[in-house]
Amino acid sequence: MTEKKNKKKSLGEISRREFLIDAGIVLGSTAAVGTAALASSCGGKTETVTSTVTKDGPSKTVTTTVTDVVEKLVPLSCTEDGQWVIDFKVNGKRFVEIVEPNETLHHLLHEKLGFKSIKTFCSRGGCGSCSVLIDGRPILSCMTFASSVHGKEIWTAEGIATEMPALIDAYVDNECMQCGYCTPGFIVTAAALLKRNSDPTTDEIREALAGNLCRCGTYPVHIPAVKEAAKALKGGR
Ligand code: FES
Ligand code: FES
Repeated sequence: MTEKKNKKKSLGEISRREFLIDAGIVLGSTAAVGTAALASSCGGKTETVTSTVTKDGPSKTVTTTVTDVVEKLVPLSCTEDGQWVIDFKVNGKRFVEIVEPNETLHHLLHEKLGFKSIKTFCSRGGCGSCSVLIDGRPILSCMTFASSVHGKEIWTAEGIATEMPALIDAYVDNECMQCGYCTPGFIVTAAALLKRNSDPTTDEIREALAGNLCRCGTYPVHIPAVKEAAKALKGGR
C-alpha cells in the first residue's frame, strides 16, 4: 500500500484534499458517505457546478455554487483513491466531476448527470445510439473513458435541440422515429455533418450516418430530413 502511494506521488498525483486546496477550493461538505460537494473559499466568478462521488453504494450528486477563482480549467488530477477530477462542459454548462478510471462517458453523462437522450443498444461500439459530440466530432460515449473529456466541450441531443431546432423539426416532419430509441444518436451525427457541411449530398448524408443503426428501419427518411434541415439552417432557422 505504501509502495502504491509512493508510486502515485512520484507520478505527480495528489490527494483529493490537496487538489481542492491547490485549486483554491475546499472540501465543502459530505452530505452522505461517499458524497462530496465542491465549494469555494475565495472570491471571483460564481457559477453552479455539479460534483458526484461514487464509492460504496449508489452515487449521489450535489449541486453547489462555487467560485472559479482563476477562471480557468481545474487541472486534471488523480485522487489518492485513483479517481480522476475532470473539468468539462456539456451543452454549454460547466461541470467538475470525480470519475472512476474505468468509467465510461456514457455512464457519467447518462447515469450521473441525467442526459437521458444518450442511449445504448450495444455498449460495444457497434450501433451509434450513444453518440455525443466532443469538440464538434461525433464520438461513441460507450467506448470513451469519462476521464478523457477533461477540458472538452460536449454536446448531446438535448443541447442540439436548443441550438438547432430546425434539425429536430425536420426529423419530426419526416417521421424519422418509430420507437425513437436510435433517434438521438442520428440527431447528434447529423448535427456534426451539418456543422461542417451546410449542403450535404445524398451520398454524404449516407456516409455520415452509416455508423448509426435503427432496428425499426427508418433509414430512407433520414436523407430528406437532413436535406430539409440544411435548407432551413441556411435560411437562418
Ligand atoms: S451503445 Fe455505443 S455504439 Fe452501441
Ligand atoms: S426508430 Fe426504433 S430503433 Fe430507430
